[in-house]
Amino acid sequence: MSARVGGISESATLAVDAKAKALKAEGRPVIGFGAGEPDFATPQPIVDAAAAACVDPRNHRYSPASGLPELREAIVTKTARDSDYTIQPNQVLVTNGGKQAVYQTFATLLDPGDEVLLPAPYWTTYPEAITLAGAVPAVVSTDESTGYLASVEQLEAARTPRTKALLFNSPSNPTGAIYPPEQIEAIGRWAVEHGIWVITDEIYEHLVYGDARHVSMPAVVPELADTCVVLNGVAKTYAMTGWRVGWMIGPTDVIKAATNLQSHLSSNVANVSQRAALEAVSGPLDAVAEMREAFDRRRRTITDRLAAIPGVSCPEPKGAFYVYPSVKDLLGSEIRGVRPQTSTELAELVLEQAEVAVVPGEAFGTPGYFRMSYALGDDDLAEGVSRMAALLGEAK
Ligand SMILES: Cc1ncc(COP(=O)(O)O)c(C=O)c1O
Repeated sequence: MSARVGGISESATLAVDAKAKALKAEGRPVIGFGAGEPDFATPQPIVDAAAAACVDPRNHRYSPASGLPELREAIVTKTARDSDYTIQPNQVLVTNGGKQAVYQTFATLLDPGDEVLLPAPYWTTYPEAITLAGAVPAVVSTDESTGYLASVEQLEAARTPRTKALLFNSPSNPTGAIYPPEQIEAIGRWAVEHGIWVITDEIYEHLVYGDARHVSMPAVVPELADTCVVLNGVAKTYAMTGWRVGWMIGPTDVIKAATNLQSHLSSNVANVSQRAALEAVSGPLDAVAEMREAFDRRRRTITDRLAAIPGVSCPEPKGAFYVYPSVKDLLGSEIRGVRPQTSTELAELVLEQAEVAVVPGEAFGTPGYFRMSYALGDDDLAEGVSRMAALLGEAK
């Protein structure tokens, strides 16, 4: 096995999920807060467009590796509508999910030895994709005291002559944090000043709550456009995780190079999925608004319920569908005869004893936390948090 691929670690998120599923298969009533996907069905007009696409022979053949021209056009229009960011179709590459966009962006931009500033807590895929490209993740740690936001000062302190890029993700997986517009602008200006590329992952752009607002960094700092790649996709906004459509937006030469890579790797994304994505991005945002309302209700419930557990503290998330409570104060306490020392051990105890699955903070570069997705039904959510509260309430 190569050192490069042999060095990739198992996804902790998937490991938790696998263990939860194994317990379920044994007949135990496990409630899962691990999954990073909406629990809703894909809206019907999108499914109908895909069904029609299946019987259209045009979709039975290879299509351009860069994406269906109609979809690239629609992404241009959608980006102007949602982000107030003007781009051209040749700045768009349609990928097999946002995940492929992440890998291809790093593979296209990075050389061995380059450093990428990576604020933690981070989504598990980023450091693996950076390392696979031969580069080095330079982790910038944040915690609940700043609402998990990295400041320009922190980024500047981590900058070296090898710093090539910053990975920026707002709204964030795993914390649900959203950077305020003025902080996004300040970070963008700092990046331009130092010639640092920004890869901004905006896949949760429509899942924002209360008075929080999502803004796209190159829209507020237009000078950044030549050194910025925007990552996005349909998975989270339209409950389309299984359809596998994402995209990269970037300077034309970067998109051309990434398209060359994709043309040898996976060619075009499945045409039926692209037709479904076309319907999604060019349609109304009504279904998204309904899902957002349900997520917002669950967000408030879970935050209140977690805050009431002694030893657990959690800033209110403003976006995505995750809460990221600190459980540091519980580590070392005795619970049912066990003294978990790490959030991984505590998560294992919660799974065994309360039959509730959560992902430990180790998976996101910050031990001492749990990530809990609230993309599950209201009743399960209430029951799961009650079980967890009862167990953790026994800590002494
Ligand atoms: C921050 C972030 N970016 C990108 C993705 C990729 O999504 P997909 O590959 O399903 O489009 C995810 C999925 O969990 C995510 O959380």
